[in-house]
Amino acid sequence: MDKIHIPVLLEESITALNIDPNGFYIDCTLGDGGHSYKILSRLSSQGLLLSIDRDQNAIDFVKEYYEIPSNWIIEKDNFSNIKNVLERLNISRNPSGILMDLGLSSRQLESSKNRGFSYQEDNESLDMRMDTDLNVNALDLLKALNEKELSKLFKLYGEERYAKPIARAIKENTSDISTVGDLTSLIYKVVPVASNNKNPSRRVFQALRIAVNDELNSLKEGLDSAFEVLSTDGRLLVITFHSLEDRIVKRFFNEKEDNKEGKIISKTPVIPNEKELQENHRSSSAKLRILGKI
Ligand SMILES: C[S@@+](CC[C@H](N)C(=O)[O-])C[C@H]1O[C@@H](n2cnc3c(N)ncnc32)[C@H](O)[C@@H]1O
Repeated sequence: MDKIHIPVLLEESITALNIDPNGFYIDCTLGDGGHSYKILSRLSSQGLLLSIDRDQNAIDFVKEYYEIPSNWIIEKDNFSNIKNVLERLNISRNPSGILMDLGLSSRQLESSKNRGFSYQEDNESLDMRMDTDLNVNALDLLKALNEKELSKLFKLYGEERYAKPIARAIKENTSDISTVGDLTSLIYKVVPVASNNKNPSRRVFQALRIAVNDELNSLKEGLDSAFEVLSTDGRLLVITFHSLEDRIVKRFFNEKEDNKEGKIISKTPVIPNEKELQENHRSSSAKLRILGKI
């Protein structure tokens, strides 16, 4: 079996959720079910957990891996549609806690079913859709956008210094690009090797993935809707993995506090301790922010 995703900041999130055994909780990013399962273990049979993921593979994995009791509902959707999901399921309860653990699970990265999320999987297609019902994949974007648009995308969503030469090289060689390896070898030719050993394709892959899945808009819409449905005194928790996401969350939380609608529980973001950093290198950029609804 593929390696299961190790949940990040698990104890910290569960503590911050302040779980009432009879309460209702929403995990917006089911992944491999690590956070969800821990929440479920704190609930009585009167409690309810709704877990959402836009990737059908994640849902299939969890349904096979865990026994699913009747108070654990799992739905495929974008968490930006959280209000529609509640309506569709006829749930009128307001949740006491909502969790978003953003980005990808390690299983999506390492065994992505040929979706090319990782720049290390040379033979995979340049797809990058979390939800395979989406119409446009990463290769479509590389073909459809012109040099200027591509360069802007790499700069904006990847904060990539070499956005211009990478975009130029891609447009000069578009017909030769179809796999992850085709793109990474082109980037290797254009970008000077980084001194910190970071793969020079990292930022371009981040940018493409954000664009294909419209991740930042989903996050903005998701935060708005989640806060709206959250019960008074409920808590909204978000774990981010890069500065673009974290900036959006920080701004949203500040706005809610300024408007006296919310109270920031985490004055500085919660980050993994030494033990977690050593045991799970993927946790290294994680930041957990916690907002209470007033
Ligand atoms: C980091 S993983 C979550 C891991 C999970 N907490 C665990 O312990 O296994 C992020 C998951 O969120 C999903 N996801 C990302 N953005 C989403 C969105 N806008 N709507 C729904 N699911 C999303 C991804 O498909 C992925 O499965």
